Amino acid sequence: MISEKYGIKMPIEKKIMFQSRMQRRLQELNIGSFDEYADLLQDVKGQKDEFSIMADYISTNKTEFFRENAHFNFLSGSVLPKFQSQVQGFRLPIMNIWSAGCSSGQESYSICITIEEFMRSSGFNMAYYIMATDISTRMLKTAKEAIYPMTVVDDISLDLKQKYFLKSKGLTDSKVRVAKEIRDKVRFAYLNLMDDSYHIKGDFHVIFLRNTLIYFEPAVQKRVLNKVLERLVDGGYLFIGHSESLINMNLPIRSIAPSVYIKNK
Ligand SMILES: C[S@@+](CC[C@H](N)C(=O)[O-])C[C@H]1O[C@@H](n2cnc3c(N)ncnc32)[C@H](O)[C@@H]1O
Repeated sequence: MISEKYGIKMPIEKKIMFQSRMQRRLQELNIGSFDEYADLLQDVKGQKDEFSIMADYISTNKTEFFRENAHFNFLSGSVLPKFQSQVQGFRLPIMNIWSAGCSSGQESYSICITIEEFMRSSGFNMAYYIMATDISTRMLKTAKEAIYPMTVVDDISLDLKQKYFLKSKGLTDSKVRVAKEIRDKVRFAYLNLMDDSYHIKGDFHVIFLRNTLIYFEPAVQKRVLNKVLERLVDGGYLFIGHSESLINMNLPIRSIAPSVYIKNK
């Protein structure tokens, strides 16, 4: 089974759904068997295109602004004040952040808004950059456009809406768009976390890897995490989803708050 070959964990009902959906895909591609399809996934070009399509079939892209809000409170209440105290005297400190498995970008933009709000309230000035990656090219396109149905901002305060979102003018099919100065802070890129050969330049002070590990087998999770953690600075922070667990993985991190870890120095 392809999913097992690539270390993707699925309950039986999802396996059946996966097979029937991929059957349609196989017909579209005029491919007769799952083995042949697996060969396409090994192919250099097929890897990027087909992995992206396959991932869209089998994973959920569910996300929302300020999802698991405690993380954003931790960012503004602990991570950013600590960073501020560590860089005192720097002319323009820079913080680098990676949002891995970013889906349609709402997580990345929530991080930006949290940082902007922190700077406004503390008077602290810093530069920051967010690299946001996903395997789904469809999600990355939405993320770059940053145009969403109006309902996604229902739970966001009026103050934040006014500062960081633009409303569409049309009366029907209302949409919001994230403001340009926020969009400009994020670079979106394709990246398959399971690809052992990906190469990323630079180190990150904070990595969000939330609600993405759940699709992988424990051994794959550990492999993915070890590679991701190579890019986290000592003393940097890793955020995972509240329903995810790193128990018995023996990683170079320690827990500091629910589903937040700090890299050992
Ligand atoms: C449920 S969403 C999580 C979005 C966001 N991190 C959050 O918590 O709101 C999971 C994302 O992981 C992405 N994903 C799944 N497998 C991946 C892989 N192998 N490499 C990179 N991204 C992957 C999916 O495309 C999806 O957008």
